[in-house]
Amino acid sequence: MNLAGEFAELAPELSRALENAGSLEELEELRIDFLGRKGRLAAIMAKLAKIPAGERPAAGQAANEAKEKLGELLGARKAAIEAEQEQKLLADFDPTMPGRAFWQGSLHPVTQVMEEICLIFQKLGFDIAYGPEVEIDRYNFEALNIPPDHPARDMQDTLYITENILLRTHTSPVQARTMLARRPPIAIVAPGKVYRRDSDLTHTPMFHQVEGLMVGQGITMANLRGVLLAFARAVFGEATSMRFRPSFFPFTEPSAEVDVSCMICKGKGAVNGKPCRVCKTTGWVEILGSGMVDPNVYKAVGYPETVSGFAFGMGVERIAMLKYGINDLRLFFQNDIRFLSQFGVDA
Ligand code: DAH
Repeated sequence: MNLAGEFAELAPELSRALENAGSLEELEELRIDFLGRKGRLAAIMAKLAKIPAGERPAAGQAANEAKEKLGELLGARKAAIEAEQEQKLLADFDPTMPGRAFWQGSLHPVTQVMEEICLIFQKLGFDIAYGPEVEIDRYNFEALNIPPDHPARDMQDTLYITENILLRTHTSPVQARTMLARRPPIAIVAPGKVYRRDSDLTHTPMFHQVEGLMVGQGITMANLRGVLLAFARAVFGEATSMRFRPSFFPFTEPSAEVDVSCMICKGKGAVNGKPCRVCKTTGWVEILGSGMVDPNVYKAVGYPETVSGFAFGMGVERIAMLKYGINDLRLFFQNDIRFLSQFGVDA
């Protein structure tokens, strides 16, 4: 047989072989066998150089045709095998099966409540201010009218790093920092983490506070009351009432603790005839401490005596517990997904 004949034999041979090739792997083996560098086509082509020059053009053309035809045959079988595989896949695929829902994360309830508190005050014109969690004695105590021998230092269960450096025990140092950095009028709220050497059912060594400060000309306790009432009603509902109880803080004079009507028993002291456990039947719950900024604080930051203003500070976990009726502080820190997922966007 001449070379042209040998080339022409290749396609029918491949055709027969393809009938038994059911997988892409077998197909690849055949491709290497016929079209590979050491394959059958290459073997015949190697003989081209040895035949008389006159026969070469016809043999060369036959080689090209064979190569093209082999490629076509392999391509067609490949398409057929792939289509078969797809059909099989579709047969197993149930488009009516319900999809798998993605896990959706959400902000921690304490973060949510802290953001909500800040937003309420922002709408009242307050800026947000931040301060460091590792603080120096001067801002955490001294500038806030708490001298070294003051009993309030014991009250605060401070975690010291050195004699002079500590973990802030409240967000009040942001008051002092803000007043040192800016002139009045000032209206800020300062959210953040605070630390105390204290751990039991109702205390954790780290918790969150939001501090508030408004300083300017002619600001009175009536302004404090108005701002806090607007805040309390935004968080706990428009029906909320509020009362001031005289108290003491070194950095405010006069000072007041602020109670709101109990959101669980609606101030009645009982729910369905049973004593209310949240307000212990008093009808009131404490939400924060506040007062008029003490003149000694103005002196410490170099403000003139003619300014006046108020400050307040609240525990975010406490507000969150009251708002959502949570009775165990530890739930906030255990990262139990069953608890946390109740505060998701769709919850
Ligand atoms: N710093 C106080 C605390 O941690 C809370 C507080 C009370 C802040 C009265 C104030 C305030 O600004 O006026 O217990």
